[in-house]
Amino acid sequence: MLESIMKNKILVTGGAGYIGTHTCIALHEAGYEIVVYDNLSNSSREAINRVSALISQPIEFIEGDIRDAESLKQVFATHQFFGVIHFAGLKAVGESVAKPLLYYNNNVSGTITLLEVMTEYDVKNLVFSSSATVYGDPETLPIDENSKRSCTNPYGQSKLTVEHILEDLAVSDDSWNLIPLRYFNPVGAHPSGQIGEDPNDIPNNLMPYISQVAVGKLAKLNIFGNDYPTTDGTGVRDFIHVTDLAQGHVAALNYLEQQVAPVGFLPINLGTGKGTSVLELVTAFSNVSGQSIPYQFAERRAGDIASCYASADKAKNLLEWQAKLSITEMCQDSWRWQSMNPNGYNVKDI
Ligand code: NAD
Ligand code: UD1
Repeated sequence: MLESIMKNKILVTGGAGYIGTHTCIALHEAGYEIVVYDNLSNSSREAINRVSALISQPIEFIEGDIRDAESLKQVFATHQFFGVIHFAGLKAVGESVAKPLLYYNNNVSGTITLLEVMTEYDVKNLVFSSSATVYGDPETLPIDENSKRSCTNPYGQSKLTVEHILEDLAVSDDSWNLIPLRYFNPVGAHPSGQIGEDPNDIPNNLMPYISQVAVGKLAKLNIFGNDYPTTDGTGVRDFIHVTDLAQGHVAALNYLEQQVAPVGFLPINLGTGKGTSVLELVTAFSNVSGQSIPYQFAERRAGDIASCYASADKAKNLLEWQAKLSITEMCQDSWRWQSMNPNGYNVKDI
């Protein structure tokens, strides 16, 4: 069994990024060989160096763009992959509104190019980074995989469009295994404190914002809305530790290895199934870090929804995967990363 797993080589696009680096470690620990392909548009070589140090061996890293078919073909010609985990993409909602063509080009055209090259080299296993954003404003909670999908911004549309492309591909050719993993809200960092989320500029997302207030880089958190129909009026989200999320990718690959027949298009939520409010997260972070987190209430942020949390049953039943880590552990690990690396990787190769 171990021998057959050792043979399995995985291409990790976007493997230098936040979720990619954590997943590389989980894949290595599970016995997979990995090749990382990333254009470093939102990451750095330092992240790759740190992953190499954590796994005590150099990572095979190729600097390249998923829109560059020739470069991808070279990679597929020199490696025999079992499959691809496809993280590469741009992810800032606000930027996607300002630069929709960039987002559709990078996220949609880039994925089409990758799928064309995979077809050419007969690699038919793909795990794709989708998002809970494809559910828009959910009609019922918890959100299961059959819920209606709709999006209100170009970033979300790019994820939904890729999902539609994958569905059409599965219909056209039944030898594909296409698993979009719909992530809820990934937070936390590797327990070593060596790798974590390193946003450019001022963070848009809650956890990195709280961390930067705690470490003194930002003065005050704006809490967007305290009049939502939730327990304390602030937004509720399903925060999931990034190392649990990484294990979800390993579970998806293990699942594909065990199948005797292709699975086609198989979307799966990765969440904890539990909602936590913005205020609850602020309190938990403050308790864990011993720092005060000054905040003020502000207007609701355009496009935000009140509550969003997953039904995690499908992942449990099919992949035998469940998130294990608590909100306290998410805050502890985010804080360790932030306090050990107040300026993130401090090296941007862009
Ligand atoms: P990230 O920005 O840290 O990582 C993405 C990586 O992809 C970066 O290293 C970047 O340099 C690389 N990349 C971008 N465009 C590329 C291209 N054209 N060619 C090659 N490499 C390219 O983001 P992340 O948080 O690790 O997210 C990974 C994936 O998960 C993304 O597709 C994102 O949309 C999706 N996702 C993230 C979240 C989240 O909250 N972080 C939630 C849902 C879905
Ligand atoms: C956001 C994106 C979503 C994307 C996800 C992960 C929007 C509308 N949605 O989700 O498409 O998939 O990030 O990248 O941008 N909050 C504050 N103050 C802050 C930041 C956030 O109060 O400074 C609140 C928000 O209003 C929300 C909660 O914290 O209620 C979580 O926000 P965030 O971390 O940005 O995640 P999402 O909005 O769920």
